[in-house]
Amino acid sequence: MSRYVVVTDDLGLLGLIGAAATGPLHGNVHRWQGSRLPERPAEVRNQLERPADLEVLILGPGMPLELALTLAAAFDVESPEVSVLLAGQPDPDIVLAALRAGVLDLLEPETGAAGVAALLHRAVRNAALHRRAVPVEQTTAEAPAGRVIAVVSPKGGVGKTTIASNLAVGLAKSAPHGTVLVDLDLQFGDVGSALSLSPEHSVSDAVYGPARRDTMVLKTFLSAHPSGLYALCAPESPDAAEGLTGEDIAHLLGQLASQYRFVVVDTAPGLSDHTLAALDQATDFLFVSGPDVPGVRGMRRELDVLAELGMQPLKRHMVLNGADFKAGVSLRDVEKVLGTSVDVVIPRSRAVALSTNQGSPLLNGSVRGPATKALQKLLARFTAPVAPARRFGPRHRIGA
Ligand SMILES: Nc1ncnc2c1ncn2[C@@H]1O[C@H](COP(=O)(O)OP(=O)(O)O)[C@@H](O)[C@H]1O
Ligand SMILES: [Mg+2]
Repeated sequence: MSRYVVVTDDLGLLGLIGAAATGPLHGNVHRWQGSRLPERPAEVRNQLERPADLEVLILGPGMPLELALTLAAAFDVESPEVSVLLAGQPDPDIVLAALRAGVLDLLEPETGAAGVAALLHRAVRNAALHRRAVPVEQTTAEAPAGRVIAVVSPKGGVGKTTIASNLAVGLAKSAPHGTVLVDLDLQFGDVGSALSLSPEHSVSDAVYGPARRDTMVLKTFLSAHPSGLYALCAPESPDAAEGLTGEDIAHLLGQLASQYRFVVVDTAPGLSDHTLAALDQATDFLFVSGPDVPGVRGMRRELDVLAELGMQPLKRHMVLNGADFKAGVSLRDVEKVLGTSVDVVIPRSRAVALSTNQGSPLLNGSVRGPATKALQKLLARFTAPVAPARRFGPRHRIGA
């Protein structure tokens, strides 16, 4: 199988890519052969024994920029699941043109072994996320298909569970029996309470025993909610999940993503191993920040940490919850501290607090008002038919 295709005569770069293609990046590197350079994706695929294995295409050095961008743009349209890297100088004109052509990253001259490996890592991850974002109907039975939405924040009490349960109920209504909500706040999770469920089984049952090996068994451990949503709640006892590893969580989410169109993951505050494992599996990061200055600063630090770890989702959603701009902090102030724009603002609302106490998410009922409207706006980000955006790494990101 050829996981990588490189169009270049640069033996140094070929050597670096070959050296990086081990461990999780393991795969064959195919060097473009032929007297002329490829102009269309079909020409690249025709040289491969198993074209479906192609994940990363590296263009240049030595490929004329215009030709490379034409080929990159054609891949972006025909096969967005293939990540394209372009060898070139990071000058603003090239970066902008490459971004428009759907290039994922620039491979700068002088990039060393570690840099090449890091770029390949991102490219492979991006390819995997794109494969997963393809609608369920278009995927093969065994391919992981669902979108995994991790709801995270550095702090507790900011609305993660409220937002996760509303989003999950809303998604369940748009795709009945296609959504599962997982409570990864394993010690003090309250998804069961938010949905008025009395679950017979919990995450720890799902991770150990036969459910781990058999997805059909796993399905019998889920609790059904009247909206059509399935939920996997946290264990009742705070120490029941002791010893559960990030790998256990990754396996569980992979199993669920292979069966459900949407897997919404509620998390504990901060970046525990479990939350990092969920983020690693996630196609979507949904950040929830409170409107207070310390909360927003904490969120900024969390964004910085994730960027340093190289963790980039396919899509990112920034929610400001409990907003009350009379408290002396404006949306502009918040965005300035965050260094990114806020996608959805949910106002502080008595209806939300009431819905928590009643164990019935707002999107499950008929209560109207500004908070319901904001939650519907958030829901529309997942149900509206949009092509997944491609983006540059932190160094090359243009806009948010
Ligand atoms: N927009 C809002 N307006 C009013 N109360 C809210 C709002 N969002 C959340 N709450 C309340 O804040 C409390 C904590 O919310 P929760 O979703 O459990 O936070 P987390 O999961 O981040 O700890 C709950 O009682 C909830 O009803
Ligand atoms: Mg919570």
